[in-house]
Amino acid sequence: MVHIKVLINCALPYANGPLHIGHIAGAYLGADVFARYNRLIGNQVLYVSGSDEYGTPITVRAEKEGKTPREIADRYYEEHLETFRNLNINFDIFMRTTWPEHSENAQDFFLKLLDAGYIDKGTMIAPFCRKIGRFMPDRYIEGTCPYCHYPKARGDQCDNCGRTLDPQDLIDPKCILSGETPEFRETDHFFLRLDLLEDRLKEWISTRSSWKPNVVAYTQNFIAGGLKKRPITRDIDWGVKIPLQGYETKRIYVWFEALIGYITGAKEYSKRIGNPDLWKEFYFDPEARNYYFIGKDNIPFHAIIWPAMLMGYGSFNLPYDIPANEYLTFKGQQFSKSRGIGYSVDDLLKAVSADYLRYYVASILPETGDSDFSIEELVNTVNSDLIDKYGNLVYRVVSFIDKYDLKVEPVDISKDEEFLYAIHSFQAFSDELSSVHIKKGLSIWLDLAIYANGFFNRSEPWKTVKIDRNRLNHDLYLSLKIIEILTAMAYPYIPASSERMWDLLGIPFRIGESYNRLNEMHTFDVRRGSIPFVKLDLESVKAKLNN
Ligand code: MF3
Ligand code: ZN
Repeated sequence: MVHIKVLINCALPYANGPLHIGHIAGAYLGADVFARYNRLIGNQVLYVSGSDEYGTPITVRAEKEGKTPREIADRYYEEHLETFRNLNINFDIFMRTTWPEHSENAQDFFLKLLDAGYIDKGTMIAPFCRKIGRFMPDRYIEGTCPYCHYPKARGDQCDNCGRTLDPQDLIDPKCILSGETPEFRETDHFFLRLDLLEDRLKEWISTRSSWKPNVVAYTQNFIAGGLKKRPITRDIDWGVKIPLQGYETKRIYVWFEALIGYITGAKEYSKRIGNPDLWKEFYFDPEARNYYFIGKDNIPFHAIIWPAMLMGYGSFNLPYDIPANEYLTFKGQQFSKSRGIGYSVDDLLKAVSADYLRYYVASILPETGDSDFSIEELVNTVNSDLIDKYGNLVYRVVSFIDKYDLKVEPVDISKDEEFLYAIHSFQAFSDELSSVHIKKGLSIWLDLAIYANGFFNRSEPWKTVKIDRNRLNHDLYLSLKIIEILTAMAYPYIPASSERMWDLLGIPFRIGESYNRLNEMHTFDVRRGSIPFVKLDLESVKAKLNN
């Protein structure tokens, strides 16, 4: 098998509030499964995310809490790290956009694009609040969305329909600090000349035939309206400084610099491991694949603005795929901590283990359409799929071996129909995961678990143990091999439980090597020990959540 370099970038969450399960379903879980899968098949993976700490998303929060933006960023950076750790989402690096190295990278990008003519100076009309006496950032203006008529659309984007907006587009705009209607005045800024890159972008998008239809459609739609130059600086002071004299009161726009965070993360990771040029292999080797895991509201930034920036800078790899997910909803509404809809990840982890949460969310991942999260369904899916079909199978096989104190000897089962079936199913699973079909991969896994239960039942070991020990040994070995394959397939989804299962099975190599060694007829040194699954009880899960 040819091994490739896979750069997995995951949207940098704003450090302005707790992560909710909608974020996890939108970007991080799929990325983590994909990263683990790629490592298992032997690809070289660099897995990057970070904390998006500048701009008005942070200052709005700071103002609400009476804190400084830096205090807010520090707090949520730490919280996010902890949440990801608890969920076993293991980035190689989780950078911060407030790192000085990041400002340098962002300023370098800015100057390089300015030099190349892809950034130029101009003026724009911005909301000015007369009561406060200064220009107000887009996010500080709220009003009715001109497209979907959502009444609390922000000046930068509508949370309801996802469209990017200009504060001037809003119907009845108001400053969120003063409540006044802003006046629109002229101010000097820098602009990214998307118009100059329109043809190249169009041509490139037309080559992205393997992207998800929703991502392609969204992107083409965005371009169809014609690409205009976009302001990439703002009248605010919490941000990366503009590396030119005369702009001391302005900053680089958070979206422009945050995207560069992917590169900062890759560079800083390379330095940390003592191989400072490593990141270049991912960004400049044309064979390397760059993936961006994001929620759908981030599509225009990753499918148009970021590629434009990379093109303008020159020679960087463009996104290979942007498997953006739709939304995970809660009782039909978007998760939102601020609006009190749904649960934060930390709340959920008080009630269920990380693997249970990962399993359930992976099984309903909103890959092709929105899907709805419910506690009842979580409990049900974990109990009746993960535990009854897989955990219970392992339990039955292992406890049978234990009960009769058997030593299962390796036999060649490579021609057995059931083994071949499992290998085929592994291949189908691999094909799905290679195309980032995370949910489909899990359903193939579940089908194989059901099949394996069928085989164990058919083989009737409780009978053969009395009459045909050779047959018994053969059948148990076959069941153990299928369980091994199942456990290896489960690893990207439920890493901690799979590792514990792996230990219980007594397989003579690490789970990290499993994908290359599925055909080996090794011994199983099955241990006594408990299966790492305990069934969930709906009432007690609910009680823990409400605490
Ligand atoms: N912070 C943004 C959000 O949560 C995502 C930024 S992705 C980046 O929607 F690449 F720009 F960093
Ligand atoms: Zn809208």
